[in-house]
Amino acid sequence: TGKGTLGNQIAKTRGWHLLDSGALYRAFAFTANQRGIAPADIQGIGVLGRETEFSFDIAASGEVEIRVNGREVSMRVRGEGCGRLASMYAAIPAVRSRLIEHQRSRRQDPGLVADGRDMGTVVFPDATLKIFLTASPEIRAQRRYNQLKSKDFDVTLRRLEAEIAERDKQDASRMVAPLVAASDAVVIDTSRRRIGEIVEEVDGLLS
Ligand code: C5P
Repeated sequence: TGKGTLGNQIAKTRGWHLLDSGALYRAFAFTANQRGIAPADIQGIGVLGRETEFSFDIAASGEVEIRVNGREVSMRVRGEGCGRLASMYAAIPAVRSRLIEHQRSRRQDPGLVADGRDMGTVVFPDATLKIFLTASPEIRAQRRYNQLKSKDFDVTLRRLEAEIAERDKQDASRMVAPLVAASDAVVIDTSRRRIGEIVEEVDGLLS
């Protein structure tokens, strides 16, 4: 929907911190999968949650660098394969409760832009401003395609469309923190609008 780009720009112009919660779910899922811990393995998930530290830094290039226990995993978690894995682990309550602590700990002065599906409903229900972005599935797939291609990922548009539709279905139908807008969120359809316009609109809402 453009949430990453929007979040980045708002954080940059205001000098605020940024939380990319999707990257956190991706990093957790990637690590669990690498260690052979299945989503259903409640005990294994608990141990991994206690042992795992995440860190996020902005590199000189402006890209976010994600580390799990000191090990850089940024590029490995970006692809759609890891998005699917993240969606599977994200449906497990023990995973969500572990990651919620980390997310809340990122609330820092002078401000935080938090990007993710349950920011306004579950993680920061008292947020000053909640924005829920939507975009047509075709446009979201095209944006993801451009983004992944620019990072040299081997993707096809048709496959991405199918994968994104599948992931949406899984995220919207899960029992915990399903993908829904908070009742007090401002809904913005980004399909036919330029990012600069949306940044201005959100900036206006914050002033
Ligand atoms: O936003 P992104 O594509 O990086 O998120 C990957 C997956 O992580 C989502 O499909 C979703 O299942 C999960 N997620 C979540 N809650 C968040 C952020 C991501 O469940 N706040």
